[in-house]
Amino acid sequence: MTDELIESILNESRSFAPSKKFIKQANLNKEEAERLKEEASRNHIEYWAKLAKDELDWFLPFKNILDESKAPNYEWFNDGEINASFNSLDVNASNNPEKTAIIFEAEDGKSERITYKELLSRTSQFANGLKKLGVVQMDRVVIYMPMCPEAVIAMQACARIGAIHSVVFGGFSSNALKDRIEDAEAKIVITADGAYRSGNIVPLKQATDEAVAQSSHEVKNVVVFKRTGEKVEFNQERDIWWADLISGCDSHCDPEPLNAEHPLFILYTSGSTGKPKGIQHSTAGYILHAKTTFSWIFDIKKDDVFWCTADVGWITGHTYVAYGPLLAGATILIYEGAPTFPDVGRFWKICEKHAVTIFYTAPTAIRALMKHGDEIPQSYDLSELRLLGTVGEPINPEAWMWYHNIIGKERCPIVDTWWQTETGGAMISPLPGVTNTKPGSCTMPMPGIDVDIVDESGESVEAPNQGGYLVIKKPWPSMLRTIWGDNQRYIETYWDKFDGRYYVAGDSAYKDTDGCHWIMGRIDDVLNVSGHRLGTMEVESALVSNEKVAEAAVVGKPHDVKGESIFAFVVTKGNRPTGEDAKKMQQGLREWVNEQVGAIAKPDEIRFSDNLPKTRSGKIMRRLLRAIAREEAITQDISTLEDESIIKQLQGKE
Ligand code: WTA
Repeated sequence: MTDELIESILNESRSFAPSKKFIKQANLNKEEAERLKEEASRNHIEYWAKLAKDELDWFLPFKNILDESKAPNYEWFNDGEINASFNSLDVNASNNPEKTAIIFEAEDGKSERITYKELLSRTSQFANGLKKLGVVQMDRVVIYMPMCPEAVIAMQACARIGAIHSVVFGGFSSNALKDRIEDAEAKIVITADGAYRSGNIVPLKQATDEAVAQSSHEVKNVVVFKRTGEKVEFNQERDIWWADLISGCDSHCDPEPLNAEHPLFILYTSGSTGKPKGIQHSTAGYILHAKTTFSWIFDIKKDDVFWCTADVGWITGHTYVAYGPLLAGATILIYEGAPTFPDVGRFWKICEKHAVTIFYTAPTAIRALMKHGDEIPQSYDLSELRLLGTVGEPINPEAWMWYHNIIGKERCPIVDTWWQTETGGAMISPLPGVTNTKPGSCTMPMPGIDVDIVDESGESVEAPNQGGYLVIKKPWPSMLRTIWGDNQRYIETYWDKFDGRYYVAGDSAYKDTDGCHWIMGRIDDVLNVSGHRLGTMEVESALVSNEKVAEAAVVGKPHDVKGESIFAFVVTKGNRPTGEDAKKMQQGLREWVNEQVGAIAKPDEIRFSDNLPKTRSGKIMRRLLRAIAREEAITQDISTLEDESIIKQLQGKE
């Protein structure tokens, strides 16, 4: 038996039960969780209908539950009318107006508290501002903002008037922003003069100007929130300051009654081919799953301070910052800056300062902070923490144990939540008062979510510890509805593999003897760098768009902190650079990718060769390249290569 195998067997049998104290106070106990699962398996449709009636406020109650007539474009509750912002803000502002909705921690250490009443009036006022600009239902609004309350206000304001928001992560380049503006044909872009990051200013307005100038689609207006006060270019006809826009606007704005299927937002994510795809979500189904999973998984109580460290530019920042917690009337913390600013204790300092009780982050952040030793978190008071969570990638057992021992002091359950941009909310996760957790496993599906692992022919894999495709067998309310502007791609990507029978997540996974799920990774060419999805193709297209590059192939390589790092093999036009020339060119290409996509896509390593290894039919031999990048022994047949000597170049030996 290999050490790895022994380690994995040990992991699977090591489990952690929630404490009696936690179980006693949990929102969901074992009986309730079993009842929910039983109800869902007895009558899937009725289960969701009852939740939708109990958990959401409707302007017009629905009669239809699931409409399968256009499958796999499933629709839920499609004769009902609802509003996501009403359910988040009005409901809670009327129940508990003075409750803190948002605690904002700026990078410079200043903080601000916003009550539900205030959040409602600020959102309404901004929604009226958008209306003044002529924004109407179905218009697309791109939000390219720092991580600050105004980003959430902008999202909620769109939801209020039925505009579709498309949030673009502030770390993406102007070029990536341009692609997203064009694809969504955005009417308005909301940005800021800049964002603070690690003590520097990220010039968001400048990037927006470049993107808008290069876009083939004309953007009507750019709304600019003043965050840094730095001087920025201003186009008087097109640009308007946030403060000027809302001045004179009423702080009451009726929420529009919208069809349950009205698109709430588009969020772009990477696939294995082509440009990022605009994942389109609905209104009612999405908020239903966001609210219930938030309450169950994070066991939210009235005095909790919930901190999800994700930026609103990612799905986690949509579901568990901008929507789920507000739908549940919780208090969230939003932090503007870098986890390591001004020092590596910043996260723990924030937990102490604001008495954070529930903390949700990505394994990559845990690994990065773990590297700095136990003394840093130990020098802060983390005694208010009662529950921890992770998302975005498999967590290695070592990081899990550190999180458990050093941050949670063995007292806090850890919820490892598996889900995707496409699923809208968490799908497989422990319920903290019910499930025994295992380091590295996301454990069990949520009630109502029918997860399975199937083989190549689509048959369930019954045997434990056998890998297969992770699929969802029944439609669920918060599933993506389509890919914006490309329904064919939606069908091909998620449904064609098993003839439309199941949603194919694109991950491989297995179940252990206890039925716990273990995610093994992507089955396609999607990388997971620091918990963020990136298509190899995206980085390759960025590389080949450089005038000096003829061909490029990108593969992932395991990385201690980031999970995966990006390794690029590049064939240049003209002679293969070596020595100093190669170094210069590596530097230049890294910068180039940064400009084309953003810092997260910068290759960690670039190696030049005269050629890329290809099969006879001309396909790049990616498995071979992966083995080379990882410095593994080559087991692939390379006899078909025209020139075997390039292997040495690819290995960096020549
Ligand atoms: C991976 C993030 C293991 C997975 C919410 C998935 C995970 C992709 C986990 C989606 C987890 C997410 N354990 N792997 N707990 N959570 N993943 O769309 O490969 O940014 O398909 O959504 O991240 O990434 P996305």
